[in-house]
Order: sequence, then C-alpha cells, then structure tokens
Amino acid sequence: MKIIVSMGRGGTGKTSFVALITKYFIETRRTPILLIDADPDQSLADVLGIDFEGEGKKTISELIVETFLEGGGTTVGIPPSERIESKIWEKGLYEGEGFDLIAIGPKWVEGCYCLPNEALKGALGKITKNYRYVIVDTPAGLEHLNRRITSIVNDIFDLIDPSKKSFDHVARAYRIAKEVNIKFDNFYVVGGYRFPEDLGGEVERRLKLKFIGKISSDENIEKFILSGRSLLEIPGDSPAYRSVRGILARAGY
Ligand SMILES: Nc1ncnc2c1ncn2[C@@H]1O[C@H](COP(=O)(O)OP(=O)(O)O)[C@@H](O)[C@H]1O
Ligand SMILES: [Mg+2]
Repeated sequence: MKIIVSMGRGGTGKTSFVALITKYFIETRRTPILLIDADPDQSLADVLGIDFEGEGKKTISELIVETFLEGGGTTVGIPPSERIESKIWEKGLYEGEGFDLIAIGPKWVEGCYCLPNEALKGALGKITKNYRYVIVDTPAGLEHLNRRITSIVNDIFDLIDPSKKSFDHVARAYRIAKEVNIKFDNFYVVGGYRFPEDLGGEVERRLKLKFIGKISSDENIEKFILSGRSLLEIPGDSPAYRSVRGILARAGY
C-alpha cells in the first residue's frame, strides 16, 4: 500500500490534482484506491461528481461525535478504534468504481480529544490496509495529518503558486512535516496551473526541493467543475491530465 498526499495553499489546484491522479490510477489499473478528503472544505466528492451527503454518507467528524461524544458509549467493551472502524465501514465509506472515498469533515470540538484522534488513527490504519493506494487531499497544514490520519507517507506533492507567500508556504510545509515526524519518501513541489513553467529552477534554487513539473492550465477543468461533472471523465488529451500523467511518470508511477 502506498500513501500519496496532495497539499498546498487554497486554490492551487490540490483537489483537481487528486482527481486526476485517481483517473490515471483507475486507467492503469492501480486499484483499489482509497481517497481521503482531509480538507474541511470537502470539495473532493464534488469534483468527482459525487453527492456524498445525498448518498447518505457521514463524515468521520460526524461519526466521531456519534461514537464518542454523544451516547457516551465508552463503557461498551469494544475498543474505541474498533468501534469507529466499524462505523466508518458502515456509514462513512462512499464506494465508487475503482475507488472508495471517506471525508474527515470539519474539526470536531477542539481541545485535547486524544481518544478520538488515537482511535481514528488506529481505525484508518486498518482500513487503509485493504487498498493498494491511498490518496489524501489535505488543507494547507500537515499537523492534522500526523494527529489524525497517518505519520507515514510515500509521496507528498506540494502545489505552488507564483507568489512569495506560496514559496514560504512550501518551505514551512516541508519544515513542519519534519517537525511533526511525518516519515515520507519524497517531497515534490508541483507547479500549480498558474505557475510559470520556467520558474521550476527558481523553486529548486530557493527551496532546495525537487520540482517535478507543472499542471497545465486547462479550461476543461473549470468547465467540468462548474457543471458538476466528474473530473474522472475529462478527455484523455486534456492538457491538465496530460501534465499530471507526466508528473506521475517522473515520480515513478
Ligand atoms: N489545471 C487547471 N486549469 C485551470 N483551472 C484550474 C486547474 N486546476 C484547478 N483550477 C481552478 O481552480 C479552482 C480551485 O481548484 P481546486 O483543485 O479546488 O484547488 P484547491 O483544492 O487547491 O483549493 C477550480 O475551481 C478551478 O476553477
Ligand atoms: Mg481543495
């Protein structure tokens, strides 16, 4: 099983990138895939044309509240991680063709909810074992990743925009990944669709990180997202999809 994480500032194209990786993996039969939407924004289902709530699915946050914070079932003799695991299988998993999807949802009540965090990590550890690839769509930071989802990642793709803020963000993300002890094999910087091709060298010079290519700007992406059509159905010769295939090939896929 391999874990891939897409990150970057809001609007850089992370979620679309995850959708296009998924398309490529399905087409090259790298399945089954588990998609984890870790962004409270929850847009991954949308770009895949899935009505998550309409399908009767619940976010992990909702399931955590149901399991641990309401009902107060802590006296039940089943370990917390097993309880949340069975809830996820039962109510939290959207099953698509070649991929399944779970959504972490908005943060549950802040504070030290160590029990839910630990239980969730244990449960996800078991669930992910059933898949060949796990692809995580994250919000900007990585702290939550280690706390709630996983501390081992194969490839991190950090999408960058042509702004100082975005460069700073990538530098900070890399530092934080190290600080919170996320073990990763590769940290790739990906040029977002607004990123000029020829600034790749600048990324490597300034950040000392590997620049693995840029996602082409593609009006199909905008059209599909606007109309609610799944990005999995974007034509094979769409510029964004072609560029993502190139990036994945350079990353060894
Ligand atoms: N390759 C692309 N070409 C053109 N527009 C894009 C591309 N990728 C994303 N976008 C646009 O940017 C918006 C944000 O993309 P999204 O993938 O949701 O970013 P993020 O997850 O980083 O917030 C989309 O609604 C879409 O209009
Ligand atoms: Mg997103």
